[in-house]
Amino acid sequence: RVLRGRPRDLAGRRVVVSAGGTREAIDPVRYIGNRSSGLQGYALARTAAARGAEVTLVAANVNLPDPAGAKVVRVESTAELREAVLAACGDADVVVMAAAVADFRPETRHDAKIKKTDGEPEAIRLAKNPDILAELGERRRSARADRGVESPGVRPEVIVGFAAETHDVIANGQAKLARKGCDLLVVNQVGEGLAFGTPDNAATVLVAGGEAVEVPFGPKEDLAAAVWDLVAARLS
Ligand code: CTP
Ligand code: CA
Repeated sequence: RVLRGRPRDLAGRRVVVSAGGTREAIDPVRYIGNRSSGLQGYALARTAAARGAEVTLVAANVNLPDPAGAKVVRVESTAELREAVLAACGDADVVVMAAAVADFRPETRHDAKIKKTDGEPEAIRLAKNPDILAELGERRRSARADRGVESPGVRPEVIVGFAAETHDVIANGQAKLARKGCDLLVVNQVGEGLAFGTPDNAATVLVAGGEAVEVPFGPKEDLAAAVWDLVAARLS
């Protein structure tokens, strides 16, 4: 079902996919996390490998078997995910940020488990995490500026982001696409049993330059195939 007669149109391409959700430690036993299962990112990695790509999958806290043919790098925190993605992106043609990255982390990580006391609990102060996707977009933008307008060699050639929105899905998505400097943004509407932990998904893929491609509700493999079709069309 993954190939459906498609050629190995990603043969010779290096792709990086992030999947799952990052966790930020509060103390040795607790963390701030999110509900991402990693299913969509794993489907993307599996599909890319089946279409011939050399795949590095950066997996944050995912409890799924390794996809056939992908190199898997396991991470926990946003800082670790950032290191692994930037390292793998050095010579990549495509990066797909399907991971749900924690926007905030506790300002301090307690070395010992926080104990209950008779009084009120202490507040957890939060610090902002780096935006990895925006950083990738910004690095590419400045590399292109350095090399001049005609800059075919700048990598990654295609940068793909994901976004889960609860309202004003398209308007929020369009603003996010521009803000992050990516080429494609896969926008999910969350809620109504969509997205988290389920095998099916529906999405709108926003393409830089204007068009929007609707992918109807169906297996996450179908959305993965649609994303790689759009990526392959943008690769030179
Ligand atoms: N992302 C990232 N680093 C972050 C936060 C998000 O690389 N610190 C990436 C995600 O992997 C995803 C995209 O950015 O591909 C959009 O994530 P999203 O959470 O929708 O965007 P935010 O900019 O964090 O905006 P908000 O959560 O406020 O909607
Ligand atoms: Ca976010």
